[in-house]
Amino acid sequence: MNNIDYIIRKENEKDYREVENLAREAFWNLSFPGCYEHYFIHIMRDHPDFIPELGYVAEMDGKIIGSVMYCKAKLADGKGNEKNIVTMGPLCVLPEYQRNGIGKALLERTFDIARSMGYEVVVNFGNPDNYVARGYKSSFKYNVCFEGDFFPAALLVKELVEGALDGRRWYYYPSDVDKPCDDEEAVARFDALFPPKVKAWQPSQEEFFIHSHSVINCPEEK
Ligand SMILES: CC(C)(COP(=O)(O)OP(=O)(O)OC[C@H]1O[C@@H](n2cnc3c(N)ncnc32)[C@H](O)[C@@H]1OP(=O)(O)O)[C@@H](O)C(=O)NCCC(=O)NCCS
Repeated sequence: MNNIDYIIRKENEKDYREVENLAREAFWNLSFPGCYEHYFIHIMRDHPDFIPELGYVAEMDGKIIGSVMYCKAKLADGKGNEKNIVTMGPLCVLPEYQRNGIGKALLERTFDIARSMGYEVVVNFGNPDNYVARGYKSSFKYNVCFEGDFFPAALLVKELVEGALDGRRWYYYPSDVDKPCDDEEAVARFDALFPPKVKAWQPSQEEFFIHSHSVINCPEEK
């Protein structure tokens, strides 16, 4: 598909349900049979870490075909210094419009806004394939890790301001905004409000397992 005529604009309240449905379509069966991202988006908007200024959509002929959202998170160096950062996601594009540069456009627009709001760093936990072309690098390269000093392969970091991370060890503290998504019954109750969809296995679920359980380990570089 070429020459899609879409605009990128700020999300508003009237978009909420359509964005949740879009997330459900984009994430369905991707990481496991079904998905929780529509519920995640639903609860995120009421969480104090949610950043409404960075909620953006891609719209084509009045239809929302892409969406991105952000939350506040924190880096701490263990010596009393902290850095307020953002974590991006969910980012999604309707399956039939993927690979047309819409995800890229949503990210580039919102990175600029995040930067203008004073945020210097964005951290994500996700499939590197989706992010390295946008300038994300392995957390290992920036010395950003979880408590316990481990560097998940899926922990990805982008400097919105070059040099914001100065090489010292930073510990990443994500928001707890996604905790309610562990409640499978709550997710199922919310999902029942949408048209029925078939849960099934697909290879991306194995890919997700591999990415989400892998850790970077190159001690010779430390
Ligand atoms: C991931 C997603 C948001 C990307 O949006 P998109 O509009 O399809 O992506 P784009 O067309 O803007 O592509 C952006 C770039 O990433 C590359 N890319 C995107 N997905 C890729 C993949 N799975 N593997 C390899 N490269 C990929 C594209 O080639 C492109 O590279 P370029 O900038 O060098 O040209 C979209 O595919 C989607 O909604 N997927 C399902 C939900 C999901 O996985 N979201 C991300 C996790 S929060």
